[in-house]
Amino acid sequence: MSAEPLIELRDVNKHFGELHVLQDINLTVGRGEVVVVIGPSGSGKSTLCRAINRLETIESGQIVLDGQPLPEEGKPLARLRADVGMVFQSFNLFAHKTVLQNVSLGQIKVRGRRKEDADQRSRELLDRVGVANQADKYPAQLSGGQQQRVAIARALAMEPKAMLFDEPTSALDPEMINEVLEVMKQLAREGMTMIVVTHEMGFARSAANRVVFMSDGRIVEDRTPDEFFTNPSSDRAKDFLSKILKH
Ligand SMILES: Nc1ncnc2c1ncn2[C@@H]1O[C@H](COP(=O)(O)OP(=O)(O)OP(=O)(O)O)[C@@H](O)[C@H]1O
Ligand SMILES: [Mg+2]
Repeated sequence: MSAEPLIELRDVNKHFGELHVLQDINLTVGRGEVVVVIGPSGSGKSTLCRAINRLETIESGQIVLDGQPLPEEGKPLARLRADVGMVFQSFNLFAHKTVLQNVSLGQIKVRGRRKEDADQRSRELLDRVGVANQADKYPAQLSGGQQQRVAIARALAMEPKAMLFDEPTSALDPEMINEVLEVMKQLAREGMTMIVVTHEMGFARSAANRVVFMSDGRIVEDRTPDEFFTNPSSDRAKDFLSKILKH
């Protein structure tokens, strides 16, 4: 195993018009590491994730995945999107395709697998996330928690090098949050490299190697969960924690 980090952002900057949404971002994620990103609304967390998948371009700095700068377009870009699986707050499944088709599609189109092989792998993954018996249904027939687990299976089907999760449980009813977090914890235990934007502090405490706190486009803290929760160094993090831990 290489000691080289899997994901590296160096002096990354981005604006949306006047808004300096990513300000000199430096972030290194090692292989198998789980990094939880937290921070107030509008601090740039989603933009950070989207930049790593090149759903957003950056203006300066560098993003390196597995030793390579992010590809800009074409097939290499499609491969990058497969290499870095992304799970969003909204489930983003294709409504007119079955669960099985949703999970197989990318394997066939991007990874060039035969349909039978793709379907077999899809069924294994659906089993792993606990929705094997939903394979022939359409997304609208599933609960939010089930749909989100299908979205995770779909990303995993591409054999990603890393997974990005952007508030994967914040649109879910409380009783469905844990079933999704359990799948994510299992992935973390299996050694998947993960960046997870979440306000689920229990997940951060139990699964994260590091907590990154963002505020106004900057990384203000980057520490172990234990250090972060017991002794945040910045007033902004203290203020933020006092608000969310009251809920
Ligand atoms: N496409 C866009 N065009 C213009 N401004 C944008 C765009 N996307 C995001 N922004 C702005 O950039 C800032 C950061 O947005 P971002 O979505 O990254 O924040 P966030 O930390 O994920 O917030 P939240 O916790 O609400 O999801 C916000 O002020 C947002 O309004
Ligand atoms: Mg966001």
